[in-house]
Amino acid sequence: MTSRLIRGRLLSFKDVPRDIDDTSSYSYEEDGAVLTTDGVIIASGDYASVKQQAPAEAIAIDHRPHLIMPGFIDTHLHFPQMQVIGSYAAALLEWLNTYTFVEEQKFVDPVHAARIATAFFDELVRHGTTSAVAYCSVHKSSAEAFFTESHRRNFRMIAGKVMMDRNAPPALLDTPQSGYDDTKAIIEEWHGKGRQMVAITPRFAITSSPEQLDMAGALMREFPDLHMQTHLSENHAEIEFTKELYPQHHDYVAVYDHYGLLGPKSLFGHSIHLSDREADAMSASGSVAVFCPTSNLFLGSGLFDLKNLDERDDPVRIAIATDIGGGSSYSMLRTLDEGYKILQLQGQRMTPLESFYRITLGNARALSLEDRIGTIEPGREADMVVLNAGATPAMALRMETVTKLSEELFLLQTMGDDRAIVETYIAGEPAKSVL
Ligand code: GUN
Ligand code: ZN
Repeated sequence: MTSRLIRGRLLSFKDVPRDIDDTSSYSYEEDGAVLTTDGVIIASGDYASVKQQAPAEAIAIDHRPHLIMPGFIDTHLHFPQMQVIGSYAAALLEWLNTYTFVEEQKFVDPVHAARIATAFFDELVRHGTTSAVAYCSVHKSSAEAFFTESHRRNFRMIAGKVMMDRNAPPALLDTPQSGYDDTKAIIEEWHGKGRQMVAITPRFAITSSPEQLDMAGALMREFPDLHMQTHLSENHAEIEFTKELYPQHHDYVAVYDHYGLLGPKSLFGHSIHLSDREADAMSASGSVAVFCPTSNLFLGSGLFDLKNLDERDDPVRIAIATDIGGGSSYSMLRTLDEGYKILQLQGQRMTPLESFYRITLGNARALSLEDRIGTIEPGREADMVVLNAGATPAMALRMETVTKLSEELFLLQTMGDDRAIVETYIAGEPAKSVL
């Protein structure tokens, strides 16, 4: 049994912050501590009372004056695209065809996949991301490499082998049957093994035949507790091509709806150019729209209309993510910063409290995992990040004038990156300082 008594300033959200100073939305301890045993949070709160509950052999770690928060959650990224980041293209489809579909072919090689998996989890740790929802390549072996490394490091992860059977190079295509069989084999081997979870992953309507989307729907009915992830309404040319391929359906969401892919465990990357009807179908089904700020800017895809989705009578559930390698940073802090700017361009506001809610409890709720991750409270998995808002000389200088928690958070969001991550705990184990 390994116990740790981790001391520092403690911040954990309880609910959506309603305004810039909504103190009821979070709990904060100036001199706080978290007690973990074997990867689980046993106690949290003020240092003196948590210390009393700690066994004598607990390892004491003092992070004062830094801020301890729940680990960041990245709800959409592509593990085989680490070497695609920063590829020069006019827009999504050119970027996919010129770089991404070429790069992903390398993952037929298990040695390459294993090497990239190691680099991938190192990068998440470096950036304070403790859980993620990842796309692997079409190859079953890429999911093997991913889960093998994730399990070895004891991450809470959701991932799936991409299903794609058309409109891509032949070396990247499966078939409706092999996509189904391989996904099922991966589910049987990995889903529920330690902290590993499998997502059914049809890449998007353009690269899946109707038969394949039908198979994805069949998998969802067969395994109703699994997540499903795909891409939706990211770019105008993509939307037009989808309409050509599926002329019988009146819009993009209707295509996925027809094959039974909507629902509370369904994650739709991008969801930028949705009609009111599509947003209504998303909210009625409990589907999640995943905002990917750095990717949307990098590929010039469009401005995610967060408030339109969030402030409807029946709101659409929203998550936020990096979308590596369309996205340009692994950092959820950089992601918040770019997201903030996208909202600014549309006259929309996102308070610093709302930002940090979104990358912790907000994303955990979007994944229906709030009973396991996203907060620091007894019973939750001990995934945490330790933040230093004065990590660089420029940040330290700005920090001199900060007087409030919300200002500190906004500084972290605006100027922070992996240098602001002092430590990352994965299931109670320090992971960054040992990289
Ligand atoms: N749509 C289908 N595949 C992808 C992908 O890999 N990245 C992004 N950004 N959009 C996609
Ligand atoms: Zn994506």
